[in-house]
Amino acid sequence: MKTLKVGVIGGGLMGREVASAIGRWCALVDFPVKLELTAVCDLVEKTREWFRQIPTVKLLTADHKELLASDVDIVYVAVPHHLHEALYLDVLRAGKDLFAEKPFGIDLSAARRIREAADEMGRFVRCSSEFPFLPGVQKVWRFLRDNSLGPVLEIRSGFWHASDLDPTKAINWKRQNKFCGEIGVMGDLGMHTCHFPFRMGWNPTRVYAQLSKVYTERPDGKGGMAPCDTWDNAVLHCSTEIGGREVPLEISTKRLAPGEMNTWFIEVLGADRGIRYSTKEPKTVWVFERRKEQVWERYDVGHSYNTFPVITGGIFEAGFSDCFQQMWAAFAAEREGLLADRFGCVTPDEAVRSHHLFEAALRSHAEQRAISL
Ligand SMILES: NC(=O)c1ccc[n+]([C@@H]2O[C@H](COP(=O)([O-])OP(=O)(O)OC[C@H]3O[C@@H](n4cnc5c(N)ncnc54)[C@H](O)[C@@H]3O)[C@@H](O)[C@H]2O)c1
Repeated sequence: MKTLKVGVIGGGLMGREVASAIGRWCALVDFPVKLELTAVCDLVEKTREWFRQIPTVKLLTADHKELLASDVDIVYVAVPHHLHEALYLDVLRAGKDLFAEKPFGIDLSAARRIREAADEMGRFVRCSSEFPFLPGVQKVWRFLRDNSLGPVLEIRSGFWHASDLDPTKAINWKRQNKFCGEIGVMGDLGMHTCHFPFRMGWNPTRVYAQLSKVYTERPDGKGGMAPCDTWDNAVLHCSTEIGGREVPLEISTKRLAPGEMNTWFIEVLGADRGIRYSTKEPKTVWVFERRKEQVWERYDVGHSYNTFPVITGGIFEAGFSDCFQQMWAAFAAEREGLLADRFGCVTPDEAVRSHHLFEAALRSHAEQRAISL
């Protein structure tokens, strides 16, 4: 079986998640390629040391150029947003394929330059967004493909967190514009809310944004306080066009959503049918149908709804690490030309489009008006 060597730059929260996804690649049934994590780069020695327990890792380094000089085929980069552009471009220039993390550059112009370099160099590039690979979301996708909703009335896509409600939570790079980007929470959570609607062809034509900043400083972890200048919540009231009609599309990203712990959801309502899924009820998909009476039907979904089959029992529940591995399988399959009609990872075009939306949202909020896209 063909083996692809993977290098990781940035071995923090997400870098370790990749090691885990690749480490149990045997869960995938008859998958045509094997991935092997062979090289890891991180500036912090303790972070690098964690990867020593993975037998396939041959290179641990603090210098990403050393990793790029190794024989890796694919490089996954999971570093703070202000470093995306420089590191992604270095990966492409080294002749490697790139699995980028969101938001794919700190702002729109960075995202455009990354896309341009990928095109020029003919590299395979995709961006991370794993939630559409949950079985529940795959059911939503198939349902929308196979059923008519009647006239579509509205769409809601969101990703909500709550841990920032605690004002004593210490500052980190995700809460400072210079590292996270002016788009704040949209850069952190926005790609997750755009991937599914964009893939369905529901592109925003107009946006009116409500952005909020609530806590303007946070403990710096050294006994003092540090400025916290990112947007906490962003509610984007968009329009999209479906069947020649304008349809409301609400895209919301929140760090201050009481009671919500990593809640990703999609809801699509039509006059005849509708469907909704939320990670709040991780194995449940709700389907609406207007019959003689109005009915919401509830379906349980397990691993049998995966994009790629796994050894895990079809009725067993899936979680974050499962969809993350499914996303990696989609990346590898598409790179090999074997994705067929399955759901794929975020393309550079979609990533740039999300930045267009976020930039328009910043303008909308600043000028207190709707902006056409
Ligand atoms: N897909 C998802 O669900 C998801 C979730 C969280 C974060 N992310 C994204 O992943 C990326 C990283 O986020 P994280 O939460 O893993 O951050 P993190 O802070 O946990 O890890 C970042 C790592 O990068 C290392 N690093 C910084 N500069 C470096 C350099 N020049 N060379 C090598 N290593 C360097 C740091 O030492 C750190 O270990 C961001 O783009 C973030 O938006 C994605």
